[in-house]
Amino acid sequence: MDTEIIKFNRDDPDAEEMRRAGEIIRAGGLVAFPTETVYGLGGDALNPDSSRKIYAAKGRPSDNPLIVHISDVSDISKIAVVDNIAYVIENIQSKVSALAERFWPGPLTIILHKTDMVPYETTGGLDTVAIRMPSDPIALAFIEASGGYIAAPSANISGRPSPTRVSHVIEDMDGRIEMILDGGDVDIGVESTILDLTEEIPTILRPGAITDRHLAEVLGEVRYDPGIIEDNSSVAPKAPGMKYRHYAPRGEMVVVTGTHRAVADYINLRAEEDKHDLIKSGVICADEHVLDYRVPVVKCAGRLGDEETAAHRLYSILREFDAEEVDMIYSEAFDDEGIGNAVMNRLLKAAGHRVIDADGLN
Ligand code: TXA
Ligand code: MG
Repeated sequence: MDTEIIKFNRDDPDAEEMRRAGEIIRAGGLVAFPTETVYGLGGDALNPDSSRKIYAAKGRPSDNPLIVHISDVSDISKIAVVDNIAYVIENIQSKVSALAERFWPGPLTIILHKTDMVPYETTGGLDTVAIRMPSDPIALAFIEASGGYIAAPSANISGRPSPTRVSHVIEDMDGRIEMILDGGDVDIGVESTILDLTEEIPTILRPGAITDRHLAEVLGEVRYDPGIIEDNSSVAPKAPGMKYRHYAPRGEMVVVTGTHRAVADYINLRAEEDKHDLIKSGVICADEHVLDYRVPVVKCAGRLGDEETAAHRLYSILREFDAEEVDMIYSEAFDDEGIGNAVMNRLLKAAGHRVIDADGLN
């Protein structure tokens, strides 16, 4: 299949081509589109065949549910049950409204009980549905042109990092889908926060730019799904997607913690050994530390304490390591406050939770 790539301007997302993107979706086709978090691979969420095609294009297991993207808050009522009887959380309707009011459009996905309108193909067989209203104007115009309900996972081949630039989408999806909407680089760079509202206490299934603290301001109590905190994987995560080792670099990867001096000494020593063993090593570090490493490939993730930039660059850096055939990746750890929490979550997943404390070595 020929994939059409169409450039869009955020100031004028309603260009004539958007109508065509909408027609492709209504006819059961697939279109990749930018959101503020990562690029999505969109199909009609209410059409089971479209969801099947999404799984096929990604090479993704079909028990991994898709997020339904909307462009108008009032569209929730068609796809989710919001009356109180269905929920253990009290005043669910007012809580959903308060969350939408504060965080939508934006990088928050909420999980509610689904209505019959949503096919099980879209929810991976679950009775719940994940819903998000993205803030990118191109995404909003696309969803509206498509009839209002776009099922979309990240637009990467399963097992690769989520795409944050259109070149990543082209790499993974060219020839597999009808159209790619080119909106340039995304803004945030890590996927949305997922919040489950079908539990007794609102539960974060995946950390993102909207943090536990932001959510607690609206909801009072929130908790983390133990499945995303445990690194021994004895606890099954509630978001089916979090159980897959999302992205595994072609090389090995380890996160090194400790004081900067100890971290740099450890990585330099290991890189020297790697060189002897003809292993190509690389490092992910803060901009200020660049000159401290004697490692063949050095990637900067932004200035110290600037976790927004780390989020923005992380997936690009991981793709670059693969392209440059790096065998062994060492990464500095990031502060896990704010969006840093999401950065560390993705980094640790990529490293298969391998962490070395450089301070504890001598
Ligand atoms: O930022 C994002 O959320 C991006 C953009 C495109 O919107 N989308 C995204 O989708 O990251 P995906 O499919 O790569 O990740 C969705 C995650 C998966 O881990 C999936 O298991 C979980 O959401 N999920 C979806 N529906 C769920 C449900 N009903 N219950 C529990 N987890 C669910
Ligand atoms: Mg994904």
